[in-house]
Amino acid sequence: MTKNARSILYTLSAAFIGSMIVTSCSNNPLSPGVEYAPDMYRGPALEAYGVSTVFGDSMASRKPVAGTIPRNHAETLPFYEPYAYPNTNEGYEAAGLGLKNPLVASAEDLAKGEKIYTNFCIHCHGAKGDGNGILVERDKFAGVPSYYGAALKDLPEGKMYHTIYYGKNMMGSHASQINYNERWQVIRWVQKLRADGLGQSAPSDSTASPAPVATATAVTEILPVKK
Ligand code: HEC
Repeated sequence: MTKNARSILYTLSAAFIGSMIVTSCSNNPLSPGVEYAPDMYRGPALEAYGVSTVFGDSMASRKPVAGTIPRNHAETLPFYEPYAYPNTNEGYEAAGLGLKNPLVASAEDLAKGEKIYTNFCIHCHGAKGDGNGILVERDKFAGVPSYYGAALKDLPEGKMYHTIYYGKNMMGSHASQINYNERWQVIRWVQKLRADGLGQSAPSDSTASPAPVATATAVTEILPVKK
């Protein structure tokens, strides 16, 4: 090997080792090595779900301020939904008096109500609403009242909503399964089953009021949904 060739080889090896040293300096396995203007790659903004030293719990993601309501809360699952009536006997009675179905009765809502009923209620309440769902028939569950029996034949829709929202005794809350509109749609179907059972015609929307949740003044409190 000539002297010239040897010095070229030395220079190349030195350059190679040098570049290895430079590029292997970072502890971050994702780092591409020497970076020009690293702020451009790793901004000072916090990453969602990342770590933050600013907050005591070290989490960068924060919960919404208490009482935050999503803009389209009527369409979303109702975790942040305002509901004015507390989960007490007084709240139940007040809902029965003040809470009306805001949906204008339509065949579409009734059909949706039937579907919701089939998915979430039929196994206890039965296809006809007589309280003989499959769980009751198979002795897995007892004490489901008929919608047209003495206890429920005059039950106002506000109380139905209240019970669907919070649950009542052996019936659990359905607030997290069905949203605001869906609750009122299924109530239409329950009312139809009750009217059929009583041999009456289902109520029309003569009771419908445009207020979406109770009365405007009553919606002052955001109640957590009971799980
Ligand atoms: C696990 C069985 C079960 C399921 C599922 C169920 N219910 Fe009930 N439901 C009951 C029982 C039991 C009662 C009687 C509660 C009481 O008064 O003690 C009841 C009561 C009711 C009442 C009367 C409420 C009142 O205020 O007296 C309505 C209305 C009702 N259910 C509607 C529904 C609807 C609508 C669904 C589906 C979204 C549903 N239920 C799902 C078991 C169930």
